Amino acid sequence: MGKMIDKKEIYRKADNILYERRKKAQSDLEFRKELLYKRVPRVRDLEKEIASASIKVARAVLKGANVAEEIEALKISNLEKQRELKQILKDNDYPHDYLDIRFICEKCKDAGFIDGIMCECMKKIMRKEIYDDLNKLSPLKLSTFQTFSLDYYSDLPIREGEKSPREIMTFIYEFCIKYANEFSKNSQSLLMRGKTGLGKTHLSLAIANTTIENGFGVIYISAPNMISKLEKERFNSSETFADSEEYFINCDLLIIDDLGTEFSTQFSNSMIYNIVNSRILMAKPTVISSNLSIKELEKRYTERMVSRLIGENLRLEFVGEDIRQKKRLENFR
Ligand SMILES: Nc1ncnc2c1ncn2[C@@H]1O[C@H](COP(=O)(O)OP(=O)(O)O)[C@@H](O)[C@H]1O
Ligand SMILES: [Mg+2]
Ligand SMILES: [Zn+2]
Repeated sequence: MGKMIDKKEIYRKADNILYERRKKAQSDLEFRKELLYKRVPRVRDLEKEIASASIKVARAVLKGANVAEEIEALKISNLEKQRELKQILKDNDYPHDYLDIRFICEKCKDAGFIDGIMCECMKKIMRKEIYDDLNKLSPLKLSTFQTFSLDYYSDLPIREGEKSPREIMTFIYEFCIKYANEFSKNSQSLLMRGKTGLGKTHLSLAIANTTIENGFGVIYISAPNMISKLEKERFNSSETFADSEEYFINCDLLIIDDLGTEFSTQFSNSMIYNIVNSRILMAKPTVISSNLSIKELEKRYTERMVSRLIGENLRLEFVGEDIRQKKRLENFR
């Protein structure tokens, strides 16, 4: 059950994040005030007087007769005090809004709603929570561009006159760095192909890390995990659970790792076809890694999908020898 997206839980988390933001905005303001009070004690008095003026107005209203004049006088003296405050800020080189509460989202004042309608900022927080939730199955932080080494690839060409694995992998590595750094919502799709242990997952995760850091809605998931999530949701359809499929289709970048290692059924093949195809139609980028040959991919997901994918895809053919094994051997030295 924990593997599904619980909408209520996501909502509760977003609500809590906004609550913390409001609290922080308030305490930041108190902190700024205290600093100012120490430098210019007059500010504290002015603020007190302004606050008590509004109480006086309320009292005057209660008294009834002839309040208009009194209220007018209070208003004028209040405006003068406000002006003096602004002048003090100016004279002491503080920004004009130094004494205003500063929200992260000025539109909704970090309330999450404007006139009962959910603000973009809250939607953004919820989206982020959902992506984090979908991504928590993967070891995201371990595989970065920094921890990727080209030393594992031989600098001897496999056949004379050809590029060496290291040259090929240097191109792929640099390509992926550039791809991740320059990623936008209409970047190209990529297909990483090659035998096991050559760094496909490593580079996919590195792309995920960078693009997530740059603020994109990214989902990294292996094909088997993707299918089991979709299966569970299909057989547990209930209002409280969000539709992962929707997120797989609509996120800025979907990274499907190990395509072809999921158990092949009519359901899994058509699900993947549907998701990949929907993204192709919306020109949304998908990064796919697979051990399968193009022929095998075509057989599973239709020639149509693969040809469209490769048509728009950049194909990166990984070469070298199994690095997992090389690393294991290193440990015995
Ligand atoms: N160039 C590399 N530098 C450092 N570690 C690597 C490199 N390529 C792969 N690895 C590591 O080797 C293991 C297998 O690589 P992985 O990316 O899972 O291969 P693949 O997905 O192609 O099967 C992982 O632990 C990965 O972090
Ligand atoms: Mg892999
Ligand atoms: Zn907002």
